[in-house]
Order: sequence, then C-alpha cells, then structure tokens
Amino acid sequence: MIDIQDIKQRFGIIGNAPALNRAIEVAVQVAPTDLSVMIMGESGVGKENFPQIIHSYSSRKHGKYIAVNCGAIPEGTIDSELFGHVKGSFTGALSDRKGYFEVADGGTIFLDEVGELPLSTQVRLLRVLEAGEYIRVGSSDVLKTNVRVVAATNLDIPKAISEGKFREDLFYRLNTVPVIVPPLRERREDIYLLFRKFSSDFADKYRMPVLKLDDEAKQILVSFPWPGNIRQLKNVTEQISIIEKEREINGLKLRGYLPHFHEHPLPALYKPESEKTFSSEREILYQVLFDMKKDMNDLKKLVLDIMQHGEKNTKVQAENAVIIRKLHQDEELEFEMGTAHEVKVQTFAPVTTVSPVPIHPEHLIQDTEEFIEESLSLEEKEKELIKKALNKYNGKRKHAANELGISERTLYRKIKEYDIN
Ligand SMILES: Nc1ncnc2c1ncn2[C@@H]1O[C@H](COP(=O)(O)OP(=O)(O)OP(=O)(O)O)[C@@H](O)[C@H]1O
Ligand SMILES: [Mg+2]
Repeated sequence: MIDIQDIKQRFGIIGNAPALNRAIEVAVQVAPTDLSVMIMGESGVGKENFPQIIHSYSSRKHGKYIAVNCGAIPEGTIDSELFGHVKGSFTGALSDRKGYFEVADGGTIFLDEVGELPLSTQVRLLRVLEAGEYIRVGSSDVLKTNVRVVAATNLDIPKAISEGKFREDLFYRLNTVPVIVPPLRERREDIYLLFRKFSSDFADKYRMPVLKLDDEAKQILVSFPWPGNIRQLKNVTEQISIIEKEREINGLKLRGYLPHFHEHPLPALYKPESEKTFSSEREILYQVLFDMKKDMNDLKKLVLDIMQHGEKNTKVQAENAVIIRKLHQDEELEFEMGTAHEVKVQTFAPVTTVSPVPIHPEHLIQDTEEFIEESLSLEEKEKELIKKALNKYNGKRKHAANELGISERTLYRKIKEYDIN
C-alpha cells in the first residue's frame, strides 16, 4: 500500500486538501498500467509533479523519462524533435537524428502544454498512441516504439476542440485517465501551509528570519482568489521576503502585494461569459465610483491650493505634480482610445501645451532627465512589456500574449530567450 504522505514528501508537494489527495491517488493508481494520462488544471497549480509520480511508480521507472514542452518548440521543428528526421529531409538536416519517441523507447514521455501541438503533429501522435508506430521526417519507414505518454494542459480542451485547434480523437486517446489538479481557491486550507513553506525556503535562500503574518494578514491571504495559483503565491511570498525589512507582516502590508482592482481595473471582462457574476460587475462599478471620487477629491485639493496660493506658486505645483501628471495621463488615455490620426499625434505633444495647469520649467527639466535615463534598447523594452503583461494577467500567457498582440508560442519563446520567470 503506497502512502500518499510519503509521495508528497518525496516530491515536495505541500497540501492536504481532499481534491489534491484525490489527484495524487489517481496518479498512483494509474501509474502501473500503461494507459495514457492527461493532467489538467489551471496555470500554476502544480501539474508538473504528476508525470514524475506516474513514471516513478510505473514498471518503466528504470527507463527514460523525457519531458517535452510542446509550447516552446517552434512549429517548424517539432515533428523532427519528437519523431526524428533523416539526413537531407530539410535544409540543415545534415545527418539522421533520433526523436524523443525513439530515445524514450521503454520509458515515459511527458508532453507538457500538449494543447499547443500543431494539428499535423497531433495526427502523428495519435498514430503512436494507437499503434505504437511513427515515421521520421523525410522517411517512409515505419518505426515502432513503446512509450507511455503523459500529457498536461491548462487549456480548456473542449473549447479547443470546438474551435478546431485540438483533435477530438486525440483528446479521448490521451484522456483515458484524467488527473485533475485543483486550483488554489478550491483548496484554501492549503494556502497558509504553502505560504509557510515558501517563506521558510526564501528565508533560507536570502538568509533572513522567516516572515510572520498577523491574524488579519492570514485572513487576507486565505481569502484572496489567487488566479495564478501556487506560482503566484510563491512569487508574492518571494517579493515580500525580499522587500520587507520587518518580518512581521500585517494586513495592510500584505494587501500592497496583492493585485487588486485598482491596478487591474476590469478583470471580470476576461472571464468567460458563464463566470461573470453580478457581484463582480457590481465590484467594478464600485471601483469606478471610488476612483472617480478620489479624482474629485484630488481636484478639489488642487483648486483650493491654487485659489489660496496662486498658480505661480511653485510649491503648490511641486506638491501637485503627481495629480497634474495623472490628470494629463488620463487625458492621453482618452486620446489614445480614439482612432483619428490627429488625435494620436496629440499624445506626443509636449506636456505644457495640453496641461490644464502650467507646469514650472523645473518640472519639465525633471521629466527630461527621466526620459534620457530611460533605456532605449528595444530588447529591454520588449522584456519590460512582456513582464508587465505577465504580471497583469498573473502569469497567464494566453491573456498576456493577446494583450501584446503576439502568439502564445512567440511569447513562450521570448520568455525562455529573456529568461523571464
Ligand atoms: N503542492 C505544491 N507544493 C509546493 N510547491 C508547489 C506545489 N504545487 C506547485 N508548486 C510550485 O508552484 C510552481 C508552479 O507549479 P507548476 O510549474 O507545476 O505549475 P503548472 O500547473 O505546470 O502550471 P502551467 O500550466 O503554467 O505550466 C512551481 O514552482 C512548483 O514547484
Ligand atoms: Mg507547467
């Protein structure tokens, strides 16, 4: 009888939620069979441990275990990587090459992000699963392999099927036994355990005392929805560990690290139609009203200051520089939302021409300095934008890629290339 707690210890899995235990149990039960397994769950829930559990508890444990990230390999070379090629089959194929399915013969292949496979590769994969057969790129010889396939995806596969991006027959073949890894918000009892584990790991790593949460902070931590799941919780814990000098964290401090409506004004818009709730829309309205009220108060303060001290008073301008800039930014945003060409040009006009309040030359100089210091490297800019987009969507590459206007695959490659976490 295999003890689930032993497995957790061996693979560094923290948590005791019944849904997590259930997923581990299923993985262990299916391990000794040769069935294909599909690991499903949102991004960041910890899917990557499961194929390893399955391999280690199978009769193939002494065979090879190869993990392939299907999203990271360019479409043009994926068939050759998986199934090999023969010399001369394409420019650059200088010699025969074995593919992963050949190398892993007798072992296990983990196809991570399987939803990213091109349709033509899906056909080849189906043949391996059905008949254990494949052919190298550029060859017509049918080769045999005995490989156990474990796949993982964070995609909504039924949706991908209905959109014609994923073959239904392949899905049923892969999904003989599904292992469902629950999102963190459905295993709230694990959140504090995970936090404690991560803060103790980071305390070791950065040689600092362990973080401590007060009761309010604990409450906030446990009730936060964690859309980026364990990956996000880990990142937040690392940020706090590095940035906070005090090791006692109260609710206010913790809130500062949790993305909220103020930074992500309309999160509910990205939810599928079915998930939109009245309460989330109401929350958005509250937030908009709240922001408007804050702007009004800022404006009132600004007008009062000007009335009391006169608009030539540089102190007033210095104190209100942030508000002035913010108002100006809002104005720019409105311009950008329009499509007329001349409107766009306006956004590049010098601050003084459109600013509602004249800004003292000192402040312009300050702005110019900031501008010069800013890195103009395209690569840096790209990296920065990618990081911003990933942060905005809590690491969800699909949404980030959408916002950046590039394909998920390109985003994936850039993340690897720039070594972005
Ligand atoms: N139960 C757990 N205990 C401790 N750490 C965990 C646990 N589950 C996941 N992690 C950690 O959380 C991070 C994210 O996990 P993982 O990479 O497996 O996510 P994933 O489900 O594969 O996400 P994606 O779909 O985005 O690839 C990793 O750093 C992993 O070590
Ligand atoms: Mg993963």
